[in-house]
Amino acid sequence: MGSKLRIAVLASGGGTNLQSIIDGCSNGTIDGQIVTVISNNPDAGALARAANGGIAHQCIDHRQFTKRDDFDRAVIVALTENNVELVVLAGFMRIIGDRFLEAFPGRIMNIHPALLPAFPGLHVQQKALDYGTRFSGCTVHFVDGGVDTGPIIIQAVVPILDNDNEATLSARILEQEHKIYPQAIQWFAQGSITLNGRRVVINNGSEKEVAAQINPPLPDEQ
Ligand code: GRF
Repeated sequence: MGSKLRIAVLASGGGTNLQSIIDGCSNGTIDGQIVTVISNNPDAGALARAANGGIAHQCIDHRQFTKRDDFDRAVIVALTENNVELVVLAGFMRIIGDRFLEAFPGRIMNIHPALLPAFPGLHVQQKALDYGTRFSGCTVHFVDGGVDTGPIIIQAVVPILDNDNEATLSARILEQEHKIYPQAIQWFAQGSITLNGRRVVINNGSEKEVAAQINPPLPDEQ
């Protein structure tokens, strides 16, 4: 058995995605170990979750840096000191600069609570509701120089219901986030991911087919 993938998780908020990755590493569905959790926010629930899980963690407060590049530099030092092989952004509310991208080429993933390329950026569950789309969902993608523009690894589609509001839709999307992020990380750990231009190819031997979904559903056939 090879050594476990060395993962860093960067998070600014509550850390439920972090928790799903902690759980995946401890129950063996992810063949990896979280070697450090970094937050830019001293009050992040993610730091408390790392502490509870006995995982090394640190706060690098972006407000202590006048230039973003200096913040990036400090984060890169923390990552390289820990020999990190995969950087996982899980609700990390800072933009990743060029220096950071160059330090970890093809080794930074992000999760976004919409079906990219629709609704990049912030407050996207509300944007999907306001637009009136029938589906939204979540996307795990590699990070490139744009905002939520990198090659897409896996997406989950979530229907939007007539009585949804931002909270109910966000909760339903989050449930899927917790399934697809650990899976994407495991594919990376297994070496199952290759890139063909922008298209991500998963070589995991699965021949399962994906069913189309229609919302609102067609009436039952008589
Ligand atoms: C998630 O919805 C993620 O997609 C978005 O921020 C939220 C983070 O939630 N980027 P949590 O901190 O993992 O609970």
